[in-house]
Amino acid sequence: MKQILSLTALSLLSLTAVAAPRSAAETEAAVQDLLSRMTLEEKVGQLNQLSGYGAHPDMLGRIRAGEVGSLLNETDPAVVNRLQREAVRKSRLHIPLIFARDVIHGYKTIFPIPLGQAATWDADLVRQGARIAADEAGSVGIRWTFSPMVDISRDARWGRIAESFGEDPLLASRLGTAMVEGYQGDDLSDPRTMAACVKHFACYGAAEAGLDYNTTWVPMPLLRDVYLPPFKACSDAGAATFMVSFNDINGVPSSANRWLLKDLLRDEWGFGGLVVSDWSSTAMMVPQNYCADLREAAAKSANAGMDMDMESYAYIRHLPGLVRSGEVAEATVDSLCANVLRLKYRLGLFDNPYVDEKKAYDFYHPESLDAARRAVERSAVLLKNDKGLLPLDLASYGKVAVIGPMADDRHNQAGTWVFDLEKEHCVTPLEVLNGLAPEKIIYQRALKHTRDRSEAGFADARKAAGAADLVLFFAGEEAVLSGEAHCRTDLTLPGAQKELLRELRKSGKPIVMVVQAGRPLVIGDEADLCDAVLFLFHGGTMAGPGIVNVLTGVAEPGGRLPVSFARASGQMPLYYNRKGTGRPASGIVLIDDIPEEASQTSTGCTAFYLDAGDGPRYPFGYGLTYTSFDYSEPSLSADTLSADGSITVSCNVTNTGSREGSEVVQLYVRDLAGSLVRPVKELKDFSRVTLAPGETRTVSFTLPATALSFTRADGTFGPEPGEFNLWVASDSQSGTPVKFSLK
Ligand code: BGC
Repeated sequence: MKQILSLTALSLLSLTAVAAPRSAAETEAAVQDLLSRMTLEEKVGQLNQLSGYGAHPDMLGRIRAGEVGSLLNETDPAVVNRLQREAVRKSRLHIPLIFARDVIHGYKTIFPIPLGQAATWDADLVRQGARIAADEAGSVGIRWTFSPMVDISRDARWGRIAESFGEDPLLASRLGTAMVEGYQGDDLSDPRTMAACVKHFACYGAAEAGLDYNTTWVPMPLLRDVYLPPFKACSDAGAATFMVSFNDINGVPSSANRWLLKDLLRDEWGFGGLVVSDWSSTAMMVPQNYCADLREAAAKSANAGMDMDMESYAYIRHLPGLVRSGEVAEATVDSLCANVLRLKYRLGLFDNPYVDEKKAYDFYHPESLDAARRAVERSAVLLKNDKGLLPLDLASYGKVAVIGPMADDRHNQAGTWVFDLEKEHCVTPLEVLNGLAPEKIIYQRALKHTRDRSEAGFADARKAAGAADLVLFFAGEEAVLSGEAHCRTDLTLPGAQKELLRELRKSGKPIVMVVQAGRPLVIGDEADLCDAVLFLFHGGTMAGPGIVNVLTGVAEPGGRLPVSFARASGQMPLYYNRKGTGRPASGIVLIDDIPEEASQTSTGCTAFYLDAGDGPRYPFGYGLTYTSFDYSEPSLSADTLSADGSITVSCNVTNTGSREGSEVVQLYVRDLAGSLVRPVKELKDFSRVTLAPGETRTVSFTLPATALSFTRADGTFGPEPGEFNLWVASDSQSGTPVKFSLK
């Protein structure tokens, strides 16, 4: 105890000294010591998170009184220090604040939106991006980010698909954990790290009809096998905090879901960090028809184990009274408060509460911009490339028409969730092209923005296309069309972009379409009008250099789809790892081919849409390269697997083209019969290989029987004996299966 008291005393004296790492036991003793000296009101104050509004006297007063545990959205280091001084010097127990912010895909150096980072299938690059974000945000005093979002997203109508890693649990788990590692580094007390916050726990992406905040109804096997694995992986990776989701799951809002927050997260997974509400999600339980008033909401959330209340004022107003009336035990408040204090110790805030203003604003290092550009290149998915039009040799074209609303749009290429964007640092494709070959470029924006329906600019665009030898058409969605509360029912290109493209097609010139968007779009018609299509989820600061490098072959298109691309909006939700039907699509007859008065059964009786056929336009995992690859039949180290064993799967991959290129080799499995209907395919592993022309490499995966586990009919988790198909392929729809069995 003496040692703890002296540590606390020391920290008060040398407020800016860097902390020596504390052992877990020392931290725990310090937390308990502090708790024992806190009043009920002070404990509840620690559970209160507010959005900052500067060093306002009212805020300073709250901080002095110990009514605030954390602030979000303060980003001026001088203000951060001013507020922190109030907490550390003037509040009774000198407990520092944690400053939080939504740093979602970069602080100042903006990386591709998370869905774009998912398209890289590159955990190292995602980790590096998060490291850079923590370094930049840490320089102004932000020590907690509300990221990564690992909500499995199967519905492109949902605007927040942009913030996700897509539809696959394995990919989201690998990239989510990489992001956690990047933010948190090796030592969370380093001021240039941030606590990660894994969100939104849980099932937020299952929002009915792709409408944000909507209800979800998720049976246990789906919850456990699809929605939860990335959260579990991030918890195992040491994520410091979790955020609950706005939605209810099967009738119980996450903010008050005791099963979710206690039984599962704490007891089953052993999570020892902090759980924060989403923005006023506690208060939302009133209009959600779950709680009669804010007081009841506070009681339900506290009793469910939600530690910190963001901007609902539910805890600060009602928890002391609820404790006094016996509706919430003081021991419950103690345990919530202990989770907050532990995080503050882990972050080193008791020893080093202030941001170093002399080292603040440390942004845009050349290496950071370089990494952001590489992430753009690696996230660029080549969807179509007829006659090898790409990569372009600009020297071989006289004039190049650059047309469209996304060619030169610094704001919109950055994507959603960029509160701290300085768009003057963004470099657009047009700027780069003008730098490379100014004499060749004829630019026409043609549409003011992507939603513009006016055809006033079409005549000039037609003229430009007519005068050029090549058309680069930059289409897409503006940033504001995706992200929180920005859902769409129509997933096609907005505004008059398709009409513009039809006009350009009339020129007869080769057309390359580059799409930058926040979600997978329905672009089949547009792709048919173009010779080549490059798709990017908003690329951030370095979108321009990354895109132009890919177009010109300085870099290869490294991306593979982390989500399925539909043929029609009405196919949503659409995802590759679906359950099979008893009548898979066959003999598809489309609406225009049905004879008049055809009989009911004449189109067959299988699972397809009369107006869209079957399956995606571009499948999960898909992405062309500038070369071609050949896969041998996979060979297995054994064709029978025991329940505690594993097999090695090997496949020879050959670069059959004339350029070096990298391939994301994907391993899929199908369980042919189970106690519950099994998905048609599930990704089990993947690996990127870079091969010289003509080179062959053996790619091997270890497949343990445990990877075949699922939530079985009796509720237990594990694999079931039987037959399996296995593919090693370049996407979720190609390849020929080989069989193995589990004994
Ligand atoms: C969002 C969260 C975000 C929080 C804080 C909420 O509206 O759902 O993802 O972290 O606001 O800004």
